[in-house]
Parts: sequence; C-alpha cells; structure tokens
Amino acid sequence: MKEYKRYTVTTALPYANGPVHIGHLAGVYVPADIYVRYLRSIGTDVIFIGGSDEHGVPITLRAKKEGVNPQDIVDKYHSMIKQSFQNFGISFDIYSRTSNKLHHKVASEFFTKLYNDGKLTSFTDKQYYDEEAHQFLADRYITGTCPHCGNPNAYGDQCEKCGTSLSAKDLIDPKSTISGSAPVMKETKHWYLPLNEYEEWLKKWILEDHKEWKPNVYGQCKSWIDAGLQPRAVTRDLDWGVKVPLEEAKGKVLYVWFDAPIGYISATQELTPDWEKYWKSSDTRLIHFIGKDNIVFHCIIFPCMLKAEGSYILPDNVPAFEFLNLEGDKISTSRNWAVWLHEYLQDFPERQDVLRYVLTANAPETKDNDFTWKDFQTKNNSELLSIFGNFINRTLVLTKKYFDGKVPEKNELSSIDTATIDEIKLVPNKISSCLENFHFRDALAEMMNLARLGNKYLTETEPWKIYKTDAERVNTILNISLQICANLAIVCEPFLPFTSKKLFKMLNLQPLQWKNAGDENILSAGHQLGEIELLFEKIEDDVIEKQVNKLLETKKLNEAAKPIEVSKQKETIIFDDFVKMDIRTGKIIEAERVPKANKLLKLLVDTGIDRRIVVSGIAQYYKPEEIIGQEVCILVNLAPRSLKGIESQGMILMAENDKGELCFVAPTKQFHQGCEVK
Ligand code: 2FM
Ligand code: ZN
Repeated sequence: MKEYKRYTVTTALPYANGPVHIGHLAGVYVPADIYVRYLRSIGTDVIFIGGSDEHGVPITLRAKKEGVNPQDIVDKYHSMIKQSFQNFGISFDIYSRTSNKLHHKVASEFFTKLYNDGKLTSFTDKQYYDEEAHQFLADRYITGTCPHCGNPNAYGDQCEKCGTSLSAKDLIDPKSTISGSAPVMKETKHWYLPLNEYEEWLKKWILEDHKEWKPNVYGQCKSWIDAGLQPRAVTRDLDWGVKVPLEEAKGKVLYVWFDAPIGYISATQELTPDWEKYWKSSDTRLIHFIGKDNIVFHCIIFPCMLKAEGSYILPDNVPAFEFLNLEGDKISTSRNWAVWLHEYLQDFPERQDVLRYVLTANAPETKDNDFTWKDFQTKNNSELLSIFGNFINRTLVLTKKYFDGKVPEKNELSSIDTATIDEIKLVPNKISSCLENFHFRDALAEMMNLARLGNKYLTETEPWKIYKTDAERVNTILNISLQICANLAIVCEPFLPFTSKKLFKMLNLQPLQWKNAGDENILSAGHQLGEIELLFEKIEDDVIEKQVNKLLETKKLNEAAKPIEVSKQKETIIFDDFVKMDIRTGKIIEAERVPKANKLLKLLVDTGIDRRIVVSGIAQYYKPEEIIGQEVCILVNLAPRSLKGIESQGMILMAENDKGELCFVAPTKQFHQGCEVK
C-alpha cells in the first residue's frame, strides 16, 4: 500500500434539525473516533473533521413549523449535537458548522471556480411555483395524492405511506404547504454538474483502482455507474443556504449536498492556516466515515466536484456502515424511536464507554444490526464487568493486599509466564491490522482477548493460594498481570477512552502510546500504583426494564398517533349492480354461540319479511346476550350458505375499522323492520 505522511479523516455532517442518537454514533462517529485515536496513538499526523450540516429544506420546514428562523433551529441543535459528541469522547480537532461565514465564502468560491472553468452546465426547466407565496417550491414543500397508493398526504419527494420516492410532478392534486394553493409550473434556470462526463473516469478510479473498498460501498458505486449518470443540479430556488454567486441567480442557493461536503474543507481552513497540505498534498490520505445513505454523495458526486476543481486530493477510502436498528425497528427521529445521546447520559451518567463498547461490538459493519437493551445489559455485565473490570480489579486488589500497591519484581519465568508474555506481544499488531482494514468489531474482540488472557492467567496460576508458600512466584504472577493491565490501558484507549484514562490513573502512569504496547516491562518493579476505582458497575434488571418501558410507551404513542388506515376504494360499479342488493332494516331476536367456532354467532333476525337464521362472524366483538333487540341492516337476498352445518340466510351489515373491530350499522331512528335500505 502507498505510504502516506498524514491523514484527513472526516465524518458525515449531521443535519442540525434534531439531536443525535445511537444510530449516528454506531454508524459513523464511534468507528471514526476509534480510527483517529488509533492513528494518533501510532504517531500519525491526522486531523479529525466534523461539523453540523445546517442547510437544506428539512431545516426550513422545521423552522416554519415552530414559527422561528432556520438560524434559531440550527443554533439550538448545533450546540446540542456538539455537546453530545464531546460528552461521548468523539475527539474532533474541529466541530464546525455550515452556517458560518467562512464556510459560505469557501463554498461560494468553489462554485465560482467550477463556473469560471466551464465545469458547470445550465438548463432552464419548469418547476412548481407558489403564486401566493411568490416562490419556487422544493419537492418537500408540496403535498398531494400519491399516484401509487392513493395516500392523500404524500410529499413531493416521497410518499411516507408506501415508501415510494416521488418527484413533485408525479403527485395528483399538488398543493403548496406554504400557502395551501395549487402551484403552477414556471420556468427557472439551474446549474448542473455534468456527472455523465465523469463516467469513464469514475469507472477507472473506483471500479478498477478501488476494488479494496467495502463490498457494500463498491457495489453501490458500481450500480450507480452501470445505470449511467445524469447531470446533477447544484443550485436550488430557496432562500436558506449559500447564495449562488452569480448576478443572474438572485434568490437561489447552492444545493445542500453541494455545500455540505465542502464543509470538510472549510472546517479545515478554520482549524489551521496550514490546511492545504491536508487537502491538496498527494501524500495525505483522505478518509470519509459515513452512513450507507451517503455513499453516492461521497463516492461519486463529491469526488467529481473535487476532480472538476482540480487542485484537491480524492478520498482513498469511504468506509460506509449499514444502519443500526433499535429493538427490531428502524430508528426514526420523527417517531421518536431512538436512544438519544443526551437522554442516555442522563440515565447512565459517566457510562459513555459502555455505550461505545456495545455499539462497536454490534457495529453495523457489513449488515444492518440491532441494538437491544437486554444485549446492552449482557455486554456490560458479562463482558466489560466480568472480563475486563474483573481482571483489573483482581490484579490491583491483590497487589495492594500483598505488596501495598507496589509493583513486585519478576523472578524466574515458568512456561505459562513465557506463553502469556508471547501472547501479550502479539496483541497490538492484531488490533492494528483489524483497524487498518476498518474491522472495528474484530479489533474490539482482540482487545477484549487481552483481558481474557489476563483472567485465564490469574485463574490458572492462583496467586492467592500460594501467597504463603511461594511468595517469589506470586511476585512474578502479579508483575505479569500488572503488565497486562498496562497493556490494556494502551490498547483500549481508541475504544474506551474514559476507561483508559481511569486505568492509567489507577496504575499511576502517564498515558502511553501504541508503540509501548506489547511490552512485558511497562511497569518497573517498585512503582507505586494509584487508588483503586471501579471501572464498570453491574446494570440491574430494573434499570433495563425502565428503558424498555420507555420504548414501549413511545410505541403506544406512535400507535395512537398513526393516521387511520382507510382501505382503497373498490372498482367502480353501476347503479344496476347496487340495486340488485335487497337490504332491509331488521332486529335480532335471539343469539347464541356456534359450538366449536369462536368467531360465529347464530342469530334469529326479524327482517320484516320473515324471521330467519343468520350466522355472523361477530362473536369476538359481541356477547349473545348483549345484542338481543339490536337493530341491524341485513342483506336479505344473499344466496343461503352453510356455515358449520347451519344454513345462513342473509348477511348482517357491519362496519370494520382499521384494527379489524366490527360494529353494527343500524337506522338512527326507530324504524320498523323490513324498511328498504337504498
Ligand atoms: O445525511 C446527512 O445527515 C447529511 N447531512 C450528511 C452530509 S455529509 C457531508 F457531505 F457533509
Ligand atoms: Zn404512496
């Protein structure tokens, strides 16, 4: 592999229109942070860039809904998001934002360069325009009837009922969400990046030269390229965003996906005057950490922008993760189906590393994965506490008890000692090679294996049993165990930075670098250890139950708020079809259960014409005794049918709601039996 002098690592800029949740951490920020912390530990020159994505239509919609300015929305969520990342130890060198001035300047100049170099094309096209609000409407600002499922409240870009991606032009009876009026088509000019012109170059750059990219990333790129690329509009008719720096483009802004990735560059400029070497030097390795929904933007569109500009390096890898689900359901901000980071910290103060651990162990590296509270508890109690915490605690407590907290000397080594030391030496490289290939779960497992090794060593050597008889041996055993503790403090740092810090303190050591790991002599004999603290605590069942109940409550609220499902209208019939049905008012005279049929009641109904038996599937909703005397409507000319051996002569009309519950349809006035229903 090519040798690089420095790294630029970026993480997708989250939209500043809501707080961040565990899905964000698991899919982007924790793996990126592990990677960067590791790079720093091996002494690499690396910058770690993050920030909030503060433009785009959803932010303007939210502002409108709350009756505030978009700036108020992004101010609120930017600080919240920034705080959450800081609280979880995501060690950005800078966490910036795209509403700041420098970003507007950098994005605007980037556009100008492409424009001046003739790298953009322009087209005039018709788009929806709200004549009352005097503005063009982004697809999200238009609602109407979905042409696929008939949902009357579909958005112009997507129908949330059937999930189909739409274009506003597909909607039936479109309406502007701003004024409520029907929009009209009006011509507007936009600027495009002609992606089609980059197809051949992309084929070589990705499909030939980056075969090492993760299969999900490579596969998505391949299918985009194979399908053929179209020019992509980089401007929008909107008033929130980076203004298009052209006289003739008044009232237009850069498309949010054009300006957002430039945010990586502007944040670097904000971070250091020496920014160019991180973006323009071929010995810099650029890595983008993103979620799978961002692949096309980071692997195709942004690289084409960089290539068109001409002076920038391109990403060398884009390790996109899949999605994390929560208790079997897709995480959703609008349905509040998420574990919000700020809420987690209120409920589990100072337990950032537990969440970091669980999210890494379950990282959706190659497929979508699930977070469950039960698994969270198990991983804390049976792994972090029982394996890692327990080993450290046993070693430190024994050292305190036998040696007053001073590191004992190593004496003659037995075979188990040398075998253990040999294992220790292998660990850092095992972890490195996993991390260098973006295999975070495996890397974490290797780190935990070192703690397992320590436990096994203590269990097999049993120093507590021989302390009185063979003190020399105990010296050696605890020395080696303490060296494992020190090794753990180093190699756990990328994954569990808070734990590492505590552990170094307990060992009374200054934090050490990766190159010190794999050594069996980190702690010298006689070194005084620090105070013992607990690294992890047991999480009890009631704590987990509380979290599960919180989610159940959310589920209930969501169910209650669900729009009522109304089934689709049936095929059109003619009047003659309708009048064939003879429906009469009637009254139930007798009712009883049908043996061995839990849904059926046998009814005797007075139809005005006669008294007849009708078998009806309403037993789950009505008890026989409740419905004697109930007025009903009954289809009397339905051909008799035999149900459970009983001949049913007609059908009682029932209304059925979206939950499948039934209720009678009856005249609203006392009418005699036998009246025709027409
Ligand atoms: O999908 C998202 O949340 C986008 N805000 C990510 C932007 S990444 C980058 F391009 F800035
Ligand atoms: Zn639909």
